[in-house]
Amino acid sequence: MQIKPDEITSILKNRIEGLDTSSADLTEVGTVLSVADGICRIHGLDECMSFEMLELPHDVTGLALNLESDNVGAVLFGEWAKIVEGDTVKRTKRLLEIPVGEELLGRIVDPLGNPLDGKGEINTSASRPSEFKAPGVVQRQPVKEPMLTGLKAVDSMIPIGRGQRELIIGDRQTGKTAIAVDAIINNQDRDLRCVYVAIGQRKSTVVGLAKTLEDAGALQNTIIVMASADEAAPIKFLAPYAGCAMGEHFLYNGEAALVVYDDLSKHAVAYRQMSLLLRRPPGREAYPGDVFYLHSRLLERAVKLNDDLGGGSLTALPVIETQAGDVSAYVPTNVISITDGQIYLEPGLFNSGVRPAINVGISVSRVGGNAQITPMRRVAGRLKLELSQYRELEAFSQFGSELDPETQRTLARGERLVKTLNQAERHPMPVEDQVIQVYAATNGYLDRIVVDKVDRFLADLTDHMRGNEAELLKQVSEGDWSDDTQQAVEKAVSSFAEDFGFDLDEEGHPLDEDDEASSRSSRRDGSGDGSGDGERDQEEDRAQEPEPANA
Ligand SMILES: Nc1ncnc2c1ncn2[C@@H]1O[C@H](COP(=O)(O)OP(=O)(O)OP(=O)(O)O)[C@@H](O)[C@H]1O
Ligand SMILES: [Mg+2]
Repeated sequence: MQIKPDEITSILKNRIEGLDTSSADLTEVGTVLSVADGICRIHGLDECMSFEMLELPHDVTGLALNLESDNVGAVLFGEWAKIVEGDTVKRTKRLLEIPVGEELLGRIVDPLGNPLDGKGEINTSASRPSEFKAPGVVQRQPVKEPMLTGLKAVDSMIPIGRGQRELIIGDRQTGKTAIAVDAIINNQDRDLRCVYVAIGQRKSTVVGLAKTLEDAGALQNTIIVMASADEAAPIKFLAPYAGCAMGEHFLYNGEAALVVYDDLSKHAVAYRQMSLLLRRPPGREAYPGDVFYLHSRLLERAVKLNDDLGGGSLTALPVIETQAGDVSAYVPTNVISITDGQIYLEPGLFNSGVRPAINVGISVSRVGGNAQITPMRRVAGRLKLELSQYRELEAFSQFGSELDPETQRTLARGERLVKTLNQAERHPMPVEDQVIQVYAATNGYLDRIVVDKVDRFLADLTDHMRGNEAELLKQVSEGDWSDDTQQAVEKAVSSFAEDFGFDLDEEGHPLDEDDEASSRSSRRDGSGDGSGDGERDQEEDRAQEPEPANA
């Protein structure tokens, strides 16, 4: 058969003209040049975007970070150890996305949304980009609703509002996680969705934390994102962004969410490792130059949206671990400058029994005051000042009676305030109870009892108020601090204090207890069968109850 070139040409022409390029599946494919430490270099992806998701064999996902003239540097998520030189890499043309949604609540997941708790598959319907541009000025509104932690020391002096970023900073083992966990537990009955991101922590710690939340009934409202200590650096790097994306799902649905990043020091270390392996130039403390941007773009995503956009909020509680109290190290100063305030915890205070071990002098909340309810703002006004005065004079306390009366009074008041603000972990307190206790302390109702009885006084006061003044407490919790309410509180607290009895006179000297003591002993003798002792034992038990478990 003779081949006619004309015919073939026309057939080819027809074919080419009819080609529908949109339906054709054209992907750009590259090959792995080298792989190590969860990082690989890829040749042939000329059009690749920064932060683009890449597909590799064995369900490994890559994230393109370094776009260079002849290759792409990418970090790998999943079983990257199975990747070998020469494997093919496909572009997805999508930026990295994280599965999000209500289905994740109550679960422990890795930063890519895979379950780690053995409770079965998670079928999420939505996803969000891991890196998302923070809302602009117009889209925001000022922080105006409180995000109560249930801790007297925080809610009174360092109030946090929904949409705020409040840093929790301190050395290791100073109770940083405890504050965040209390905040989650305290909000379990409110409409606040929580995401706890554990970065570089031991798995056993995270399991313990999940158990704590479950026991408190707060787990079903919480997503735990875990990138444990043994994970490769890229997973730890991704974790906070993933947690943020999961929180943003609620934020952009008009709900309120809280994200805890525990902790960003380890995040920065993971990023440093990744950057050095990607051969980015090291800077101060060997961190890459963009370590500030690393955290600022994360924390800027915390926001209170304006009402047109649904009024949702995302509150962020980043945690930073310092070395020997050094807040002027590179990463701590960066994060301090991006957040709206910090809660500073000190090992010295922790060891002397102040729990939570907050240094009031340098802890601040720059915006949360607007979100505080009026009664709390009013009763707590003097608290910070009096505590700071006490801390200043504390060194003199060993001189005891040689001090002038004014100093002695400040010291006595300070000791009682410190006692008042002590609170065991996992016992968050409703705000109205806090108001009453702080009111009693700052108005001198504790000045005439001995320090050891303060715990019992406050616990009994709270019981008394709950039992007899429920209506008044409700008014206070709704923000009512009118003159009538104040008088009612004043009356209730002072009559309770009268009933409780005094140990000291107005000047702070022990009362002459002769009559009282003799009457008590005669009562005890009279009963004859030791029931009086039983009563006293009970009393002692009660006095010890509110102490922190491992104080
Ligand atoms: N208010 C409190 N009352 C009593 N104990 C507390 C209180 N807060 C924390 N603790 C105890 O102090 C210890 C350290 O607390 P936590 O784990 O929260 O500290 P951390 O700063 O997060 O530690 P790490 O640096 O290991 O992460 C824990 O044993 C905890 O039970
Ligand atoms: Mg911790």
